[in-house]
Amino acid sequence: MATATRCARCDGLERRANVRRNGGRRRVATRAASSVARNPNMAQLKAGYLFPEIARIRTAYLEKNPDAKVISLGIGDTTEPIPAAITKGMVEAAAALGTVEGYSKKGGYGPEAGQADLRKAVAERLYKGTPITFEDVFCSDGSKCDISRMLQMFGAGRKIAVQDPSYPAYVDSSVIMGHSTGFNDGVKQYQNITYMPCGAENDFFPDLSAARDAELIFFCSPNNPTGAAATREQLTQLVNQALETGSFIIYDAAYSAFVSDPNCPKTIYEIPGAEKCAIETCSFSKYAGFTGLRLGWTVFPEALKFSDGYSVRADWTRMMGTSFNGASTVAQSAGLACLSDDGMKAMEDLVNFYKENAAILKRTWEEMGYKTYGGTDAPYVWVSFDGRDSWEVFTEILEKTQIVTTPGAGFGPAGNGYVRCSAFGSRENINEAARRLKEAYSK
Ligand SMILES: Cc1ncc(COP(=O)(O)O)c(C=O)c1O
Repeated sequence: MATATRCARCDGLERRANVRRNGGRRRVATRAASSVARNPNMAQLKAGYLFPEIARIRTAYLEKNPDAKVISLGIGDTTEPIPAAITKGMVEAAAALGTVEGYSKKGGYGPEAGQADLRKAVAERLYKGTPITFEDVFCSDGSKCDISRMLQMFGAGRKIAVQDPSYPAYVDSSVIMGHSTGFNDGVKQYQNITYMPCGAENDFFPDLSAARDAELIFFCSPNNPTGAAATREQLTQLVNQALETGSFIIYDAAYSAFVSDPNCPKTIYEIPGAEKCAIETCSFSKYAGFTGLRLGWTVFPEALKFSDGYSVRADWTRMMGTSFNGASTVAQSAGLACLSDDGMKAMEDLVNFYKENAAILKRTWEEMGYKTYGGTDAPYVWVSFDGRDSWEVFTEILEKTQIVTTPGAGFGPAGNGYVRCSAFGSRENINEAARRLKEAYSK
């Protein structure tokens, strides 16, 4: 067995078995690579995760064009400061952690599922009138992290269905967790994952029959990237099918605060029976600008059971106990401030600001004769380029206008032919973007 000895020059430990003497000089035998095999699931992933890839292209463009005034309508990150009614709660919580009394109450590890007052506020403010109770609400560091942990909890080899196009974390996390068997280059889809096309031809609501054999169906409404919000009738269809086939729906409501159409539910639990077949994940990221602060929640209703009758909520409790130590206490205090009367009003104003941005972008494209979708119940405008290659359009827009968008194909093969414009931006940038687009794209 190799024994460790401390090296005088580097003050580190070296393994004696690997050290060879060479004419008084010591030579350390190294291997070209470690003996650790790469996770084959990671090896299956195509390219980088979409948004860091877009950020990389933006940086490369700026390196080549250092004077360019690039406007980003790409990644979908929030830009406006967190409203004062919310930061106030956070500042007070942070200061309290510096006192003996405050630390004894909220310092140290908190409950993995989140503080009870926050869970209660989420249930009362956002799930009133539904079967959801505060015990069903699990607070976390965000939806993306919960999606990944969820797939870990369900275990490898599940049959997954997604809307196509969709938020890339569903497919990428599924591949990492071993739910796919490889990538099919011909159709640009991962095997064993069912892609349900959503386009103008089906009003962005998929043919659900393709997912009848799926165990887990990811469904995002309002949708990222298409901006489509599902109606009550459509969600009823989704829930009824899941109840009939025994699938679970993983419902992503990250943009539900943007819904203003009264016929589009803000939570899937408005649909009767959803508590028996749906998990809902949501986040303060886009509601209140918490993309960096990190706070979200996922609902696991008590009535949700595995095929053997075991509680899914109990497994999630076990999962969080193992893989998570609770969201930051400061972030949770900020979340509580969001759900106060003043916080709710501030979030509404913020969401309305971004919706006005969306209206400006949508109007700009439409006045130039482009067909657009979304942008009324979501912060994304989905612009059709009549089947043109979306990476080519993305590059062209960047070069002609110095505006970063997101190519539709980055969200799945059915996204080709479109680009997504995000409404997250200052009003000044959005107006300037509209001006540049008009200059370059007026037909
Ligand atoms: C549909 C969707 N779900 C989840 C997330 C991630 O949310 P969080 O910031 O809570 O991880 C995003 C972020 O852009 C999103 O678009």
